[in-house]
Amino acid sequence: VVPAGAVASGDRAGREPGAGATAPDGSPVEVFRRLPPGPAPGLVHAALPDAAEILELGCGAGRLTRALVELGHRVVAVDVSAAMLACLAGVAGVETIEADIVGLDLGRAFGGVVLASYLVNHPDAATAAALLATCRRHVAAGGTVAVQRYDPVWASEGVADEVRVGEVTLAVGGFTPTAGGRVGTVVTYTVGGRSWAQRVEARILTDADVGRLAAEARLAVAGWLDAYRTWARLVPR
Ligand SMILES: C[S@@+](CC[C@H](N)C(=O)[O-])C[C@H]1O[C@@H](n2cnc3c(N)ncnc32)[C@H](O)[C@@H]1O
Repeated sequence: VVPAGAVASGDRAGREPGAGATAPDGSPVEVFRRLPPGPAPGLVHAALPDAAEILELGCGAGRLTRALVELGHRVVAVDVSAAMLACLAGVAGVETIEADIVGLDLGRAFGGVVLASYLVNHPDAATAAALLATCRRHVAAGGTVAVQRYDPVWASEGVADEVRVGEVTLAVGGFTPTAGGRVGTVVTYTVGGRSWAQRVEARILTDADVGRLAAEARLAVAGWLDAYRTWARLVPR
């Protein structure tokens, strides 16, 4: 992550310890701690049996985790970033695990597995396949894997945009198409007088691509949870 702006006050006054931390993928802890959950938890909840136990992969600071708990689910929340997971310390109904999703094998099965935040759009196809393999290893028979991808139309059009989400302003720009159906972009987050710029590279996934990736992981696309088809519902085959 490239610091995109100066700290407003010129010092650390008023900021919580660790506020400058970022996950290894460049996601700023402070931003994901403050971003509201939006509609995702409701979409996932509606696709699962009541009180189904959920494995959330790449949970970050627990933006979705907390909302899923409020909707009646126990959540096992996995992230590679200790700084992100620290935000979930002591939250009832949540078990945190610091681990890489790639290769993870907890030896447990869950009624719901969640892979949010476009992790499935990883630029490296083998890594994307490994992420879905982890989803498959942990989904119970009859369970659901909810996977969030970038809207392929949005990603292909590459129109710069700025939105305010809760306390956070998100500016997406600098789209650069790269080889093999990949796109690069820069996301700038501004919150509390600080800014972070995160360079993101993603592989655009069409519906057919999602179907192929799912099949390779012995999953099948059972439907989509939202009108923009950004949340796929996958079931074990
Ligand atoms: C953009 S943040 C989003 C967090 C959360 N899903 C949300 O919606 O607020 C992505 C998170 O995924 C985690 N992550 C990315 N790749 C990972 C991997 N291979 N294993 C574990 N965590 C990973 C990062 O550490 C980061 O906390």
